Amino acid sequence: MKRFDGKVAVVTGAAQGIGEAYARALAAEGASVVVADVSAEAGEQVAAEVGGLFVRTDVSSHESAAAMVEAAVSAYGGIDLLVNNAAIYGDMEFDLLVSVDWDYYRRFMSVNMDGALVMTRACYPEMHQRGGGAIVNQSSTAAWLYSGFYGLAKAGVNALTQQLAHELGGMGIRVNAIAPGPTDTAATHKQAGDAARELVKGMALKRMGRPDDMVGACLFLLSDEAAWLTGQIIAVDGGQTFRS
Ligand SMILES: NC(=O)c1ccc[n+]([C@@H]2O[C@H](COP(=O)([O-])OP(=O)(O)OC[C@H]3O[C@@H](n4cnc5c(N)ncnc54)[C@H](O)[C@@H]3O)[C@@H](O)[C@H]2O)c1
Repeated sequence: MKRFDGKVAVVTGAAQGIGEAYARALAAEGASVVVADVSAEAGEQVAAEVGGLFVRTDVSSHESAAAMVEAAVSAYGGIDLLVNNAAIYGDMEFDLLVSVDWDYYRRFMSVNMDGALVMTRACYPEMHQRGGGAIVNQSSTAAWLYSGFYGLAKAGVNALTQQLAHELGGMGIRVNAIAPGPTDTAATHKQAGDAARELVKGMALKRMGRPDDMVGACLFLLSDEAAWLTGQIIAVDGGQTFRS
């Protein structure tokens, strides 16, 4: 008996990077996995490799989210678990809050912050119908460190996590978040180059995270072992941040 046998898990942004690691781990633990991503070629490949379903999904679009839910329900009969991992990250522009192009800012926030809410609104009725479920939102330590609109979106994800935990708790749906520190993905290399390696010198554990470092926390938060745990933001960051 595997930990997620009989469960249906939607992972957004699972075509590559940390989301891909989540999708692979959930499938290995018995879940039927829906890879929901805008990137079709890579997403199809991950889905095929984990025996799951790829659905091209833009997390900022209610229509796209609804179509993903329809496809998931028709393939697997429902939804139990949702990981809101998708974000504009590797290709993001660098600018200040006071000068960033307004249209870009709004598009960015609609994916990186509102995307988790759009997907939750689309998926929670299916979880409710199955008697409950669990959601993990992908935050970042950037929420607690100055990092412009990227950090602002993640601070929003943290607040969403706490608000939604209250709104959905009565239905047996738990909502938590993981805040990774600097993690070795292709997107991080593109975005930060060697700067991320410099950053690790100031961390308690002197190395960057790997996608697999996030997997344990994600599976735990989605599992029944975390049955009385909701509204929490768990930093998986090699000791980059300490909160008291
Ligand atoms: N890598 C890090 O150092 C790090 C640290 C902290 C938090 N995070 C967060 O972890 C998550 C994954 O990071 P990663 O390094 O694997 O990034 P990544 O860029 O490799 O993966 C992001 C995925 O999201 C998808 N995506 C982008 N816009 C989308 C949209 N509108 N709808 C659906 N899918 C969309 C992309 O196609 C991609 O597959 C992100 O939320 C990121 O902010 C990453």
